[in-house]
Formats: sequence, C-alpha cells, structure tokens
Amino acid sequence: MKILDKKQLAPEIVKFVVEAPLIAKKAQPGHFIILRYKENGERIPLTIADFDREKGTITLVCQGIGKSTREINQMEKGDSFLDLLGPLGKAYPVQKLGTVVCVAGGLGVAPLYPKAKALHEAGNRVIGLVGAQRKEMLIMAEEMAAVCDELQFSTDDGSFGHHGLVTEPLRAVLAREKVDEVVAVGPVPMMAAAVKVATEFNVPVVVSLNALMVDGTGMCGGCRVTVGGQTKFCCVDGPTFDGAVVDFHELLMRQRYYRDQEKEALHRCKLEEAGK
Ligand code: FES
Repeated sequence: MKILDKKQLAPEIVKFVVEAPLIAKKAQPGHFIILRYKENGERIPLTIADFDREKGTITLVCQGIGKSTREINQMEKGDSFLDLLGPLGKAYPVQKLGTVVCVAGGLGVAPLYPKAKALHEAGNRVIGLVGAQRKEMLIMAEEMAAVCDELQFSTDDGSFGHHGLVTEPLRAVLAREKVDEVVAVGPVPMMAAAVKVATEFNVPVVVSLNALMVDGTGMCGGCRVTVGGQTKFCCVDGPTFDGAVVDFHELLMRQRYYRDQEKEALHRCKLEEAGK
C-alpha cells in the first residue's frame, strides 16, 4: 500500500494519499480502514477522508498523538504501509434532506468531509461549521469550502473566526433557520454538546463515534458503545449513530481506559526519538 503523496496539514497532523484501488472502489462516506504500518505494529483505525475511484486512491489523515501514530506520520512518499483492511463500518446514509449542518471539531473534519461532499452532491444545502483549538490546527478548509454553501470557522483562542466553541455558531444557525439534520464529528465532549444543542431545537443529529478499536470486524468487543440502551459495536454497527441516543459518558470513560499505558508508550517513544 504505497504512499503516493504526503502533506503536513497542521502540527502533528499529516495527510496521506495511498494507492488502494480495491478499497477506493467500494469506499463510501462513513467508512474507515485499519492500518498496520509494520510487522507486529499496532492496528490503527483511520477514517477514509476521501477517495478517488478512477485513480484508485484513498486519503487518510493521521494525528500523531501516540507512539504508533507518530511513527506513521514519519513515513514518507514512496514508502508503503504493511497492509490496510477495509472499507470497514457502515456507510453514512446520504439522502436529500434539504439543509444539513455539518459540524466538526479538530480532526473530526476528516470523517466529516466525505459526508459533507456527498450531501452536497445529493443536492442538499450544506452549512459547514469547523472548530479547532487555534488557527494553525484548522485543517481541510479548502476542501470543506468546495462542498459547503456556507462555511464558518471557530477557534478556542479566537485566532481565527468565531472566538469560542463550535457549538455556539451551531446554536446561532439553528435559531436562524430551519435545518433538517445536523452531522457532528469530533471529540466526545464536542459531539455531546452538539447533540444537546440540536436536540433543544428538535433537529435530528448524527454523530460518528471514535471508540477504541482492535480488530475492526465485530469480534473483540473493544469498540462497544451503548446506543438507545443497547450495546452496539462501533466498527460494524457504526461508526455513524443517532446522536440523540448515544451514551457519551460511557464512551468517554472507555476512551480513557488505557490512558496510563498510552502515556507510558508515548514517553518511551519520545525518548527513542531523542536518541536516549
Ligand atoms: S473493534 Fe473489535 S468489535 Fe469493534
């Protein structure tokens, strides 16, 4: 799986265009892949941020926050990943609804973009709301601009666009006009807040959950989430779910489960990088 192109989008966030014709042929918005970058390497789930069936390529966006993702981001154009498994998950059901607000926080814009693109192509009016901690962390702005009828940015520190949380412009848009669906993707607290706002306005809200995954095929149970009081597996039943009935508190707790081990692995990785 050869890397055909690599671009640094923001500090620690890298975009790869990868030769994967069989995956590109079947990819739909909402799908993801599991990547192994080397023998015995960790299995990393990454959303398919874009695909080109004619060129046989898929686009992946990786944030180097742990040992494996930092090593992935050091790979270069011309290198090859060991293997990619996919497309996995259920596709986001794209319909012509009318007006859809697509809200992204941080890296959430990578899974959001193919949904916004497909909604736009299906004839919806798409309003994009993209938030990040600071200006340099805003990614895929050009891509989103190409598929949104209206696009607003927010930054936590006020360095670009609205100063504050992305849910604030969401509230303003919902108060301003009739919206048929909200699609929210990002960190769990951001998705939970977006669901709360959308629900206040009685607007259906779809989220894309980023649960911990191992096999990606429904066998390990690592990605289980509670949706509507039922146990679901993010990898085979999702990652797209009706946000109004997701147990976000449980998801947050499960995401934090391996935090100590992750910290230790990252610390070791940084020492290795520093040659100690
Ligand atoms: S990742 Fe193993 S069941 Fe979903």
